[in-house]
Amino acid sequence: MNRLRKKDIHELIHQQKGTRLSRTLGPFDLIMLGVGAIIGTGIFILPGTVAALHAGPGIIFSFIIAAIVCSFAGMCYSEFASSIPVTGSAYTYSYTVFGELVAWIVAWALVLEYGLAAASVATGWSAYFVSLLKGLHITIPHALTGPFNPAEGTYLNLPAIVIVLLLAYLLTFGIKESNRLNKIMVLIKLSVIVLFIVVGAFYVKYDNWQPLLPFGWDGVFTGAALVFFAYLGFDAVSSAAEEVKNPQKTMPIGIIGSLFICTSLYVVVSLVLTGMVSYTKLNVSDPVSFAMGLVNQNWIAGFISLGAIAGMMTVLLVFLYGGTRLLFALGRDRLLPKRMSQLNAKGNSPVFSTWIFSFLIAFCAGIVPLAKLTEMANMGTLLAFSIISLGVIFLRKDPNIPAGGFHVPFFPVIPIVSFLLCLFLMTQLSAHTLIASGIWFVIGLLIYGLYGWKNSLMHKKG
Ligand code: ALA
Repeated sequence: MNRLRKKDIHELIHQQKGTRLSRTLGPFDLIMLGVGAIIGTGIFILPGTVAALHAGPGIIFSFIIAAIVCSFAGMCYSEFASSIPVTGSAYTYSYTVFGELVAWIVAWALVLEYGLAAASVATGWSAYFVSLLKGLHITIPHALTGPFNPAEGTYLNLPAIVIVLLLAYLLTFGIKESNRLNKIMVLIKLSVIVLFIVVGAFYVKYDNWQPLLPFGWDGVFTGAALVFFAYLGFDAVSSAAEEVKNPQKTMPIGIIGSLFICTSLYVVVSLVLTGMVSYTKLNVSDPVSFAMGLVNQNWIAGFISLGAIAGMMTVLLVFLYGGTRLLFALGRDRLLPKRMSQLNAKGNSPVFSTWIFSFLIAFCAGIVPLAKLTEMANMGTLLAFSIISLGVIFLRKDPNIPAGGFHVPFFPVIPIVSFLLCLFLMTQLSAHTLIASGIWFVIGLLIYGLYGWKNSLMHKKG
């Protein structure tokens, strides 16, 4: 009897017949999906706020530390993605290696990550959109530009709700069509970031980088746990494994390639930003265009806002995509109701889970004041990463799982270091984040106990 309810890899592949998504993505598509997923609010907001409040110009080290953690975890992800090329990301990987309970915990962590990241990116998008419209002398009533918070005079974040539902509608047409729009948006986003770097470099003053570490290394580490948000998304790439051509080779290229591009851009943008303006002035909601405004490059600032809007949209698209595919996988395994795995008539999009997930995100983004909750997205991701890092060690030992096209180098050092670094970053998050995340996981365990445990396909099989 399979006490841990571990999935068998061969059955997994077989199980997908009938609910199979079509394979349409190549390596370039995947890197674009990765860059689209990763670069969003992180680059347009965090280099300013985290530098001002936590790390100073030393934020570049925060980005590098977070990137090291991500690249280690990314390698572990890649090994999993190339050995187990099926949808569901870390959730499916844990199912084969650790069994159902851990898989459910990972899935619950990922719902937290995708959900809160999507909701907070939607509110960031809304802020940039409202200010861009203001620049064009179009005003949306203040009451409709923020979550339910009568003290601030806001009741509903209408632009955030509209963008989430619009993108959900797009996703119901399937990944190929959404992928085309994603590529255009990614190119716009990358162009404005390069524009910022090239123009901004002329205004860098060496003095602004002094002192380099005004808050010491403690500030740098706290900064790393916070800017970790900027890297969220690259794991969503691995959730596309069922829809890529030749996943054994394509998945690792997609994950590591997109991570490399993003890290380089984050570090250079942070260097230029903290070189242009003293970090003490950067605690604003749109630091990148703010810095351009300060040096009287208002046109460039406008372009950057446009790029930020495009950039955040692609991030939102990928998080909605990752979340719906996760619900699809949970429905297929009956840890959630079967309807979650229902596909549209063309068989390329799980319509029901797309709408359920998107309505929840729209509700959170439009009504719930999220400010204190977004750090929880980092928590969810770090938990999933730490389980995946450990999982690689078990994966290698499992004789039933055939080796994939990618192996983590320096095994088992990198998986162990990756696991420890994830735990370390978790400890750098604030106490309220730790408590709120604890509550989230207790709710998750209750749902599993009351529903998943009895209804799971693995249970029915005995
Ligand atoms: N990495 C995503 C962003 O920076 C969540 O917006």
